[in-house]
Amino acid sequence: MSDQTRTLGSGAPNGADRRTLGSGAMFDKIAERYDLLNRVISLGIDQRWRKLAAAALDDLPGAINVLDLASGTGDLAFAVHAHRVQSDRGVGTVVGTDPSPRMLAVAQTKLAKHKDNVQSAVSFAFGDAQALPFADASFDAVTMAFGIRNVPNRAAALQEMRRVTRPGGKVVILELSEPPPGLLGAAARLHVHHVVPRVGALLSGSTEYRYLQQSIAAFPPPDEFCRQLAAAGLIVERSTALTFGACHLFVGRVPGGVM
Ligand SMILES: C[S@@+](CC[C@H](N)C(=O)[O-])C[C@H]1O[C@@H](n2cnc3c(N)ncnc32)[C@H](O)[C@@H]1O
Repeated sequence: MSDQTRTLGSGAPNGADRRTLGSGAMFDKIAERYDLLNRVISLGIDQRWRKLAAAALDDLPGAINVLDLASGTGDLAFAVHAHRVQSDRGVGTVVGTDPSPRMLAVAQTKLAKHKDNVQSAVSFAFGDAQALPFADASFDAVTMAFGIRNVPNRAAALQEMRRVTRPGGKVVILELSEPPPGLLGAAARLHVHHVVPRVGALLSGSTEYRYLQQSIAAFPPPDEFCRQLAAAGLIVERSTALTFGACHLFVGRVPGGVM
């Protein structure tokens, strides 16, 4: 049993198979409504968070190759590409991988609507973050948005991120977090604990969406997650609280090499 499954305990949503919570199989069920759910639940702020994650790669010059894990419907992969183009930093390629065929199908449909320059630079493939089919040091950067929470063996995924990133390259992770105490934190907590599960269930028609709130609660606090990044061999450059602590941006660097 994974740590995540254990922590969820009896809080697992009614009717949901605990073994599939957070997995590609669970996201298959909500893939077609996932983007809408994201925009509504986050009040549109999720796209701003992805832009900040893309900008965290700004000190990597030139045409860089980026691997976006748990890419889902591809929004961070597209955001990374768009940011590289708009900031004139050099584009390279973005490969998005995910274990949910239906999330990837949505990503492919979105890709087909983009211009040729995006279609030639961005691609998607099936893949699990715990065992990546890529050679050591084959990317300049690895990104992951709202995915690490779903991976049963988190340590294995972090080690894989470090392995496939070249020395001097970056690992950038966005993850939702439990807002801290205080008035604004309380408002954010009310949103996460009461609004998110209800709106999620309503829009997705799926009780599995309650998993979102439970998995946020089960994720370690930022300081502890930074220790897990360091244990995987990454130098933690920063951990930034976004939107009253409802989300965190973690930026790590692989030791050695040049920026
Ligand atoms: C909340 S979505 C995030 C999608 C996208 N990154 C975004 O920014 O919207 C979480 C994704 O994690 C994927 N996932 C679940 N288990 C995974 C694993 N073991 N390895 C990689 N991705 C996984 C799911 O299939 C799902 O697409």
